[in-house]
Amino acid sequence: MARHHSSNIRPADDDDALREAIAALRAGQLVGMPTETVYGLAADATNGEAVARIYAAKGRPSFNPLIAHVADLEAAERLVLFDPVSRRLAEAFWPGPLTLVLPKRAGAGVSDLATAGLDTLAVRMPSHPAAHALLKAFGRPVAAPSANRSGHVSATTAAHVAEDLGSAVAIVLDAGPSHVGVESTIVAATPAGLALLRAGGLPREAIGAVAGMPLAIVDLTDPEAPTAPGQLASHYAPGAMVRLDVEEVFPGEALLAFGLELPRHAENAAVTINLSERGDLIEAAARLFSALRELDGKAATIAVAPIPTTGLGEAIVDRLRRAAAPRP
Ligand code: TXA
Ligand code: MG
Repeated sequence: MARHHSSNIRPADDDDALREAIAALRAGQLVGMPTETVYGLAADATNGEAVARIYAAKGRPSFNPLIAHVADLEAAERLVLFDPVSRRLAEAFWPGPLTLVLPKRAGAGVSDLATAGLDTLAVRMPSHPAAHALLKAFGRPVAAPSANRSGHVSATTAAHVAEDLGSAVAIVLDAGPSHVGVESTIVAATPAGLALLRAGGLPREAIGAVAGMPLAIVDLTDPEAPTAPGQLASHYAPGAMVRLDVEEVFPGEALLAFGLELPRHAENAAVTINLSERGDLIEAAARLFSALRELDGKAATIAVAPIPTTGLGEAIVDRLRRAAAPRP
């Protein structure tokens, strides 16, 4: 018998457990969600702080965009814009192990942290009945990466989730081993056609057959594949210059502050956003991408106050370093 590291593993077919899982999601807590591919570490995708807790629990050194899980096609339609081919793929393969990356709708309501600031959103409709029941009853999109700590193999049983994440999850719904056992296949609709971003539980041949011949499947893992640079950029980069660890703010800069202690001459800033006055890294992560978007365009340079590199600070600073890196 598997050794349970916490007592929060509950049978997925128990109505009380389902109700507790929904209450946990509503409260911004994390839930271990069984899906047909792997177990997901689920949070309310519309709640930035809940999403920040995912990254904190996984110990991710950077913010990868997350997949929004939905119960049905209508819920997906509220989040993203389908082109005809993507719609055909959704109709053919949902519910199931296919994730579609599509343009995010204005007002989708998904936290900027879940998309890592991108204008696209990855959506998926799992086929597992326990996932479906949870998503249907919760009624909001659920962000869920694989429920393992960063760098570990994906979790395919409730015990794996508990071992890796322990008390970070309020409850793990146990539905036995995930039967697909590998993550979903990720396909992005791009102006150049369909791009396979990740091989997974749905074979590419099946996707190609439904998509039809005119659409080439670009495999980004193939170094020979012709890809347009920047087209699939998986990171939001601000247009403004980004200056890190500033001790002093120069006139006209936008200031991204953290905590109560401001850099010298903070009054020079044309505009200031404080990621968290109380110095809370979860709150700061939840605000990071929307703050960058808001400051971008208001000044030529964004001056960033020092941010601790402990906990989620590591991912926040990693993201800011990338934003500050010289661009081609
Ligand atoms: O089977 C699965 O897909 C599982 C279960 C829980 O649903 N989830 C999963 O999530 O594997 P995760 O976070 O481990 O992997 C999601 C991948 C990441 O590599 C991320 O970069 C990519 O999806 N992704 C998410 N949003 C994207 C976007 N807007 N553009 C490009 N890639 C995106
Ligand atoms: Mg993963």
